[in-house]
Amino acid sequence: MAREGARAFGEFQRLLSDLPGGRLQETIPHFHDTRRRFEALRQAGKEDRVGRVKEARAEIAFAMEREPMVDVVLNLLARGEIPERVTHNDTKLNNVMIDDRTGAGICVIDLDTVMPGSALYDFGDMVRSAINSAAEDEPDVSRVNARLDLFDALTEGYLAASRSFLNEAEIAHLAFSGRLIALEIGIRFLTDFLQGDVYFKVKRPAHKLERARSQFALLRSMEAQRERMEEIVRRHAAKPVPSTAGAGAPVLSTTEAQQRERIASEVFADADEACARLADEIAGLIRQNDDAGRPTVLGLATGSTPVRLYRQLIRLHREKGLSFRRVITFNLDEYHGLTREHPESYWRFMHEQLFDHIDIPAENVNVPDGTVPRAEVYPWCRSYEEKIRAAGGIDLQILGIGRTGHVGFNEPGSSRESRTRLVTLDGLTRRDAARDFLGEANVPRHAITMGVGTILDARRIALLAWGEGKAGVLAEAVEGAPKDSLPASFLQGHPQVRFLIDRAAASSLTRVRYPWLVSPIRWTPAMIRRAVIWLSRQAKKPVLKLLDEDYGEHGMADLLTEHGPSYQLNIRVFNEIQHTITGWPGGKPNADDSSRPERAFPFPKRVIVFSPEPSHDVLGMGGTIRRLKAQGHIVTVAYLTSGNLAVPDEEAAMAAELVGEIAGTLGQTKDPVADFTEGVRRELAGKKAFAADSAGIRRLKALLRRGEARASLRDCDLTPAQATFLDLPFYERGRYRQFAPGPADLAAVVKLLREAMPHQIFLTGDRDDPTSITAVCHELLRRACREVAGEAWFKDCRAWSYRGVDQPWEAADVDMAVPLSPRELAQKMQAVFHHKSQRSQTPVASGLREPWQQAEQQNRALAETYDGLGLADYEAIEGFARVHLA
Ligand code: F6R
Repeated sequence: MAREGARAFGEFQRLLSDLPGGRLQETIPHFHDTRRRFEALRQAGKEDRVGRVKEARAEIAFAMEREPMVDVVLNLLARGEIPERVTHNDTKLNNVMIDDRTGAGICVIDLDTVMPGSALYDFGDMVRSAINSAAEDEPDVSRVNARLDLFDALTEGYLAASRSFLNEAEIAHLAFSGRLIALEIGIRFLTDFLQGDVYFKVKRPAHKLERARSQFALLRSMEAQRERMEEIVRRHAAKPVPSTAGAGAPVLSTTEAQQRERIASEVFADADEACARLADEIAGLIRQNDDAGRPTVLGLATGSTPVRLYRQLIRLHREKGLSFRRVITFNLDEYHGLTREHPESYWRFMHEQLFDHIDIPAENVNVPDGTVPRAEVYPWCRSYEEKIRAAGGIDLQILGIGRTGHVGFNEPGSSRESRTRLVTLDGLTRRDAARDFLGEANVPRHAITMGVGTILDARRIALLAWGEGKAGVLAEAVEGAPKDSLPASFLQGHPQVRFLIDRAAASSLTRVRYPWLVSPIRWTPAMIRRAVIWLSRQAKKPVLKLLDEDYGEHGMADLLTEHGPSYQLNIRVFNEIQHTITGWPGGKPNADDSSRPERAFPFPKRVIVFSPEPSHDVLGMGGTIRRLKAQGHIVTVAYLTSGNLAVPDEEAAMAAELVGEIAGTLGQTKDPVADFTEGVRRELAGKKAFAADSAGIRRLKALLRRGEARASLRDCDLTPAQATFLDLPFYERGRYRQFAPGPADLAAVVKLLREAMPHQIFLTGDRDDPTSITAVCHELLRRACREVAGEAWFKDCRAWSYRGVDQPWEAADVDMAVPLSPRELAQKMQAVFHHKSQRSQTPVASGLREPWQQAEQQNRALAETYDGLGLADYEAIEGFARVHLA
């Protein structure tokens, strides 16, 4: 409510921020002239017309002490540091109309006080009236507190709508504005009390004084929590500008920066924040329907994406008593051929992730039936559609998005009109599911899915997406024309659709990636580099050949005005890129390092390469590892997880047999080795499809990956002793999508850091889906670094991020480019090739590239980009971005 109300007031200001015409009439002159109000108090105190000063000495003194506050906003306005705006001037939350079905703020009312003012007055008044833990005239001031949770919600909602137009000075004074208006109102009450209650109505003799006291108590509470309030503002202000469309509100307009977006997309700091928000909205919807005696019909998705949403719903059920008794659910899809009991069936997934933990009646749950015989699928699908209709249609459909652009399992080629049906899965979708199914070969080829048309029938749609892996397809769905080859793009036609995404998933939207194309921006060095690289690629010219006209023709004239002419700008950016290139990733000792990415000393450096699973290290930076070693640095590769979940059974069986044969040739048929081999053989032979492995088999599979990792490090010229295997417990206990790192994981990483005291850390996974192993490991590393941040050695430690094969760094993000010669590239491929258990099990059938092929292609592509920019023409380049971990 606070969030939505504040958002509505922000939206009100935003819509009026470019109101044409002359200045509005001041309905109440001097309304927020705090100086004038202050002087009136002083005067009333002096005159003491009704002899009340003696009762109010403490309050008068309190106000007088705060005189320095009264001119702050007035001065900002007078100096033009903040603009005069059209403001509402009565921003209490009951002046917002809230949609009682969706909980969304629709519009603000009570417009008779609309007049010129500062945005800060509106926000301040909202804060003052909304975050008080007690009533405005609470006589017992010990009950008056400023509630930070409400302040957080207000700030979030207000900034979501207003961040696009507020200036920095306005944002910097938001927290202050709450204090200012509390002071101002307190002063007004107090003045009126001293003057004998001429303005405000009174209920009891000292009522006015009580109201003043209460405002001052609120102000005192805000003063005590000032730092935290400032921090809340900073946090919300740092978020990228989100869509202006709130829950269920139709997309009436978007900001300038979002002009290319055809679907309202709200960007959150992370998946947890987005899921908490959506879960609250779902709870609101359920409660409203419950109150109205209606069922709530939810369309649900499976996969990694909604897992956190389901956790939040479970939390709301447990902690806030949210009941699902009257909720009816319809799942999007199910693999064809899987029974409910199959470990990878969506029926089972939904029960494990949600239904088993809430009070939804079993008969209200609907998941497509994967066991319907082929010949009966069509009538079955029609009956599913009929059932949705009979339930009253879907109120809210939750969606994820596949890397092919599918929603549900509507793969490319699905039409807008498609209905629930049997479909064939795309090769990329099957590869993405390969881990869950312990190998691509086991992934079913068909699925039953609701159609695009079925999805579009839902009254509201919320699509979630996390991680950079989704960024490309998401940007296409949001900004491109709707087309069959990208089914998610058909969502554009829906009147109540919105995307809730994290920053990484938003990274390919024009407003994030090429913001200068949609609105004037502040040109930071990083943005200038990005823009010039983009221009060079658009114009197909090396950087040093770009002309003023090229800048002009590509809408970058303002960059030239600020930082031109092109000749100088080109040289500046060219040099910057040139300085990213180094053959000395650990720094070049005894060389001038003023324009090198890494410092010369200390030398040699202690270097740790963190690899979430064996193989990530060499795929991402095999060439660089080799160089670091060759240049005399002390390199350790730390494998965070054993990677045993990704080893196919056949590989384990082969290894066990090998061990057995060796034992046999040594004549040791009765010893523990032979018993072990026999045990593994028996276990694998009797293992039910997709059953979890025993600890023994997982151990064997882990050893296999260790063997591969060591062999591959040997190709980087490292010795086996330079590998450290942490086998973090979260992975050993976990399953895909269900990893829950704990204190033991953190302790292991912290211990390693303390022992190794590295000068350089290489890591990966910073923009990945939060449920992925790489992202879990990255988060652990961050937390570990925060723990050791105060230690002396850490101050001398630099961190570099390398990327996996799915999302390589773009040239504009690269802070260190390590070139590889043809021979070095071949050696890297050799090293990667040792990870045999990770090669596709169906290389011919899938038609997709193997990870090692992708790595090679990406290293070559980065080199080609550098060449195109006019830098040296290398065979391949490994790219790194500098990161700050604590
Ligand atoms: C799941 C579904 C799919 C997924 C999509 C993303 O029911 O219909 O469309 O939403 O494949 O999968 P994850 O979330 O695993 O990335």
